[in-house]
Amino acid sequence: MINDPLAALPRVASGKGIYVWDQDGRRYIDASGGPATFCIGHGNEEVNEAIKAQLDKIAFGYRYHFRSDAAEELSEVIREKAGGNLKHMIFTTGGSESVEGCLKLALQYHTARGEMSRRRFISRERSWHGNTIGALSVSGFKARQDPYVGSMLEVSHLSPVNAYRPPANVAVENLAEFCANELEEEILRVGPDQVAAFIFEPLVGAAGGAVPAPDGYAQRIREICDRHGVLMIADEVMCGVGRCGTWRALEHDGVEPDLMPIAKGLGGGYLPLGAAVYSEKVAEPIYEVHGMPITGHTFTAHTASCAAGLMVQKIMERDNLVAKVADDGLYLRRRLEEALGGHEHVGNIRGRGFFQGIELVEDRETKEPFSPGVRMFQRVMKTGFENGLIVYPTGGNVDGVKGDQIIVAPPYNASREELDEIVTLLASTIDQAIASSRS
Ligand SMILES: Cc1ncc(COP(=O)(O)O)c(C=O)c1O
Repeated sequence: MINDPLAALPRVASGKGIYVWDQDGRRYIDASGGPATFCIGHGNEEVNEAIKAQLDKIAFGYRYHFRSDAAEELSEVIREKAGGNLKHMIFTTGGSESVEGCLKLALQYHTARGEMSRRRFISRERSWHGNTIGALSVSGFKARQDPYVGSMLEVSHLSPVNAYRPPANVAVENLAEFCANELEEEILRVGPDQVAAFIFEPLVGAAGGAVPAPDGYAQRIREICDRHGVLMIADEVMCGVGRCGTWRALEHDGVEPDLMPIAKGLGGGYLPLGAAVYSEKVAEPIYEVHGMPITGHTFTAHTASCAAGLMVQKIMERDNLVAKVADDGLYLRRRLEEALGGHEHVGNIRGRGFFQGIELVEDRETKEPFSPGVRMFQRVMKTGFENGLIVYPTGGNVDGVKGDQIIVAPPYNASREELDEIVTLLASTIDQAIASSRS
């Protein structure tokens, strides 16, 4: 008999705003927007109406047969919000497809330019880019890759960029320089004519727990990529579309990537939606030589999904939610610091906007993590559910096996009272989870 751990989960019944109810009538505050996705909360009637209106006309016009208002208007919004040269996109149904699309567009770009030898990707350890084979190959997430060892692309993995846990013998003030230099050394080692692209998360999500890079890092890797003709892919599936208080997370660093996968917050979880966004520079040779990108899927630019995303983006714009996240992100951080900053098992609080990570440790002085056998990150999630709190737990940030982090990523329209409720519940949940591991 198979023992399915997911069979023990509660059954979802309904949602409104930041709250979700299960079939037994229990209420949960959704402090992580599911997997950092539900950016305007649940049950938004305007989005539901926009989807229904689209369904009443037609659910889906296949992209090689028809254009659609929904897809074209949403493209215009993304172009305007992404800014600069990020003018092109292929819609997808989620993050992995968006990453896969960007990897393929990078390869197609080099093919179109006659640089067929540029086939290698460089990425970082402790990163998560998705579950398709290409996206999985460029990830640095041991637990999720182990079952597939031997079947993945050959990828160069660099050190994680984490100021709380810098590589051995690297001072925090030298971290940006050290990690950027690692990229250049690897490009030179492999041979610049072999390297297609460098892919990274501006703030690491599932594999790290909302880990930002130090100032200066993004500018340095931009210079290095340009110097060697390597494309830069900023994976903004989790940290993008407003979550960090700017529409693009890398806006904060004043850096524009060549390609940018987005998903989660684009459609806010109402329907499956993502996009592989790419620049004029990438588009030009592709359109000139091949006529168009040779990638995409049956459901690319699904009309009802685009209608949902368009309304989510209109609401974000009308209600000024990105600026609100920037402001209230500072408030959330202050409240987290007040409640947990002095906690003997909280090693680090980090992140930006409504993308905050809390790293739990056995020993604050030595940064020694909890024993992996305790599965502290999952204990916190389970205890949270018992307390009516949903958070996003991640593990393995230290060495691929050890490490416990909790991501707090509420909907952008969460009120300050709701943020207070999250912090209070989280603080008691962490205490209870740790106590349960001792008993
Ligand atoms: C940064 C990043 N990239 C890609 C993905 C994959 O997205 P999806 O699960 O929608 O396929 C995720 C998912 O968490 C992610 O966080």
